[in-house]
Amino acid sequence: MDKITLVKVLNKFRNKRVFITGHTGFKGSWLTMLLKQLGAQVRGYALEPVSSPNHFDLLDINNDIDHIIGDIRDYSNLKASMQSFKPEFVFHLAAQALVIRSYEDPVDTFSTNIMGSNHLLESVRDCNSVKSLVYITSDKCYENLEWEYGYRENDKLGGHDPYSASKAAAEILFSTYQRSFFSQIPELGVGSARAGNVIGGGDWSLNRIIPDCIRSIESNEPIILRNPSAIRPWQHVLEPLTGYLYLAYALCESPDRFSGSWNFGPKISEVRTVEEVAKNIIEYYGKGKIRISNTSNKQHESQLLQLNCDKANQNLNWNPKWDIQDTIKFSAEWYKSFYDNQMANAITSKQISNYFNGAL
Ligand SMILES: NC(=O)c1ccc[n+]([C@@H]2O[C@H](COP(=O)([O-])OP(=O)(O)OC[C@H]3O[C@@H](n4cnc5c(N)ncnc54)[C@H](O)[C@@H]3O)[C@@H](O)[C@H]2O)c1
Repeated sequence: MDKITLVKVLNKFRNKRVFITGHTGFKGSWLTMLLKQLGAQVRGYALEPVSSPNHFDLLDINNDIDHIIGDIRDYSNLKASMQSFKPEFVFHLAAQALVIRSYEDPVDTFSTNIMGSNHLLESVRDCNSVKSLVYITSDKCYENLEWEYGYRENDKLGGHDPYSASKAAAEILFSTYQRSFFSQIPELGVGSARAGNVIGGGDWSLNRIIPDCIRSIESNEPIILRNPSAIRPWQHVLEPLTGYLYLAYALCESPDRFSGSWNFGPKISEVRTVEEVAKNIIEYYGKGKIRISNTSNKQHESQLLQLNCDKANQNLNWNPKWDIQDTIKFSAEWYKSFYDNQMANAITSKQISNYFNGAL
């Protein structure tokens, strides 16, 4: 196969049928918008958006896609929704995606992230139109040993908190399906994708650093940081989404060569502490202040998490585009424009064009 290029990847999705789970969420709504701009036909399957406001409703794209509200734990509905659409590409993003919530409701987290993912894998197995599955888990699927270097795809899986454990379990499920079933379907490529901490406009989830900063700034309250020195692989939402498109393309072109697990994260030189990110948000937003909380966290939180992305850099020819300053600048700019009454879909659209710099 010739070297993968951005133009080849972006052109691949024109008029293609793409099934996305979790399209009403933060990453899923950006991916849906991006795929629509690439000319894809999209069917999304997810629960109703939970936050108010939320990026999916603000984009006003539910009439431009096949929009299905459904639970991935409802196996027959998920399977029928996929089979009747006959997709070529599947992106699985639906999940209970919040660490703190996983402590509050581990059963919901495990049932969604494990059994829901099992239903997705089984639906793909029964849907012979699918050529390429990108199955999104997380950088938190690795057993965190507080290493000062990045985790590689073959490092040990594990998880202290229920969210991380559910994502490690989802990875084991994926590997089982790949080895037991998908390897016997030569025309199907399957990849699991482990991205870092994703930031960007349009996220109003609870207990995530950027939404927490924006909520505090907009209500003239100090930003309370409970774990200011924690280091994370922050990246703009468009970075892993572009990585997922590269992977989907490669899986379709050469299933045997590219099936497996893939990390998508920033360069190691771009990782930052929580406090540095909050300070940069304030700088770009032009207002806000920080207060470090002295009440210690009851729940365990890892201090250091980094990804080694050599595999995707070298084999997929995927590389992150925006450095940490651009990542924070564009994130702050999105919310600032939104609270200055600009239309969310125009802001998102402009940032997508900016990111692809004329390639769209
Ligand atoms: N945001 C991050 O920093 C980050 C980092 C690494 C991995 N991830 C993973 O990326 C994916 C998307 O994350 P996000 O930040 O957009 O999360 P999000 O919470 O914004 O969106 C989650 C989506 O999943 C859907 N969903 C949840 N439970 C469901 C169920 N039972 N049935 C059907 N749909 C259901 C929701 O409706 C929503 O569309 C998740 O798998 C998450 O674990 C996120």
